[in-house]
Amino acid sequence: MAYLHAILILTCLLTHLAVTQPNNAAPAIHLPLTRRGNRFSRRETANLTYLADILQAVEAKYASSYREVDGNRLVRRWRLKDNDDENDPHLIDVAGHPNRWYTHLKVGEPPQDLEVELDMLSPDFYTVVTTSERGSAYNASGSRSHGPSDDSVHAICHNPSDEFHFTSNDITSPIRLNFPICRPSKASRQTLTNSGTFLGFSPPSEFLSKLSSPSLLDQLVNQGILKHKIWSVALLDTETGILSLGGTIAREVEETKIRVETELKHFGESIATAEWVTAQVEEQMKSAMPMASAWDEHFKWTDVQGAAGWWTALMLGVWINGSKVLKNQPILLDVNVPLILAPPVAVQRFYASIGGTKRLAAPYDAFHAFPCLNRVNIAFEIAGWNFPAMAGDGTASDALYGPAGGRFSLGKLGDGSGYCVGSVVESRMAGPEWRASGLRDFWVLGEPFFRGLGVVFDTEKGRVGVRNY
Ligand SMILES: *[C@@H]1O[C@H](CO)[C@@H](O)[C@H](O)[C@H]1NC(C)=O
Ligand SMILES: *[C@@H]1O[C@H](CO)[C@@H](O)[C@H](O)[C@H]1NC(C)=O
Ligand SMILES: *[C@@H]1O[C@H](CO)[C@@H](O)[C@H](O)[C@H]1NC(C)=O
Repeated sequence: MAYLHAILILTCLLTHLAVTQPNNAAPAIHLPLTRRGNRFSRRETANLTYLADILQAVEAKYASSYREVDGNRLVRRWRLKDNDDENDPHLIDVAGHPNRWYTHLKVGEPPQDLEVELDMLSPDFYTVVTTSERGSAYNASGSRSHGPSDDSVHAICHNPSDEFHFTSNDITSPIRLNFPICRPSKASRQTLTNSGTFLGFSPPSEFLSKLSSPSLLDQLVNQGILKHKIWSVALLDTETGILSLGGTIAREVEETKIRVETELKHFGESIATAEWVTAQVEEQMKSAMPMASAWDEHFKWTDVQGAAGWWTALMLGVWINGSKVLKNQPILLDVNVPLILAPPVAVQRFYASIGGTKRLAAPYDAFHAFPCLNRVNIAFEIAGWNFPAMAGDGTASDALYGPAGGRFSLGKLGDGSGYCVGSVVESRMAGPEWRASGLRDFWVLGEPFFRGLGVVFDTEKGRVGVRNY
């Protein structure tokens, strides 16, 4: 039942988003999100070598930054690598990798469809064009609306513009945006890497910004297209989601839920005509989400804390089957991480509270296993509210193709023991880089956290809002 429900909601939601938008709400742009490389955890037995590789890559990514006091505040900066050259490794050779979430934007005349990757660790919006045929490349000379410019925004990037075509009721004509193009120097090895486009969504930070050009949200708000510098993400299942700029889909989700519930409850009754259902939905929405209520009343908010630059905040508690087993854990939100990372002490406490769990033997000892049949209820307490995480099978495709052990599982252990590998993984963060990054005590709430929730990031007010979907 739960998954049937979810599919209906998903289908309705997608049709709904395409056709309507509440007319007195702030304008918003809704874009489809896709996960590169398909779903992360599958029915097959977990490949521990692969999981360990992923964990290592994630840790390396965060270790490339450090905290520093600047004036009277703590900020985050990128670490220079030994082999740093003008082909900035933070800029090039990062596009087109699996396990990342991307959307599509239509750019130029005739419109080119570009894959655009979300990046929560930087505010920059730019495209990388290499001479390889790999990746999703923007062809400036193929666009009649390309506005050339020689302005340099980085040693290897200039700052032309082009017209972007958004499909939205609020936006009827193309919007011209600055669209920096970065090209690795011709002779370098990096020119063989993927082309691709990045859409940076970190809190504004002059220190993490690699290019001296405005972010996408800044451009859209400055041009009066959007009212609020906010963006939000809602993962609908293991491979798709919706990215919203300037707003959220909270109202659409709520309406869809009420509609599906009403239709199911009155299924087959002659009274339940389309008009009747719509009237019921409108009536119930008046109390669920009054039109006069401010958009942000529908989310639980927590302020961004810690070194300025990334989406870090405080999680008030971790709950297992109704008991609070950990409190006041600092968190970093990053949808591009397919796991949940936590400090060793916290992870041990977490699995000890579930019971029947075991730590895997080295070299996989960052992972724990739990009995697949033990469906534990996990909730993260944020802004005074308990948000259920990784519960149940989720969608129908999860039930059919997902891992044994439900959404908390990364897959079965291959030894036929009936144990599944848990999504909460110990971060090692050993070595001096980690100390400098200041993330050793952090939980990294990745993709498994986002599922089933609406999460909105407010770059103006420095806060994160969460809502159950
Ligand atoms: C497991 O993952 C490793 C590393 O990604 C890969 O080389 C190997 O082929 C995978 N094994 C299986 C059985 O898929
Ligand atoms: C870019 O577009 C131009 C004009 O349509 C075309 O001649 C050229 O081959 C394209 N370049 C690439 C790399 O696709
Ligand atoms: C948690 O609750 C589930 C079902 O409600 C049960 O199957 C499981 O054994 C419980 N786990 C613990 C550690 O109490």
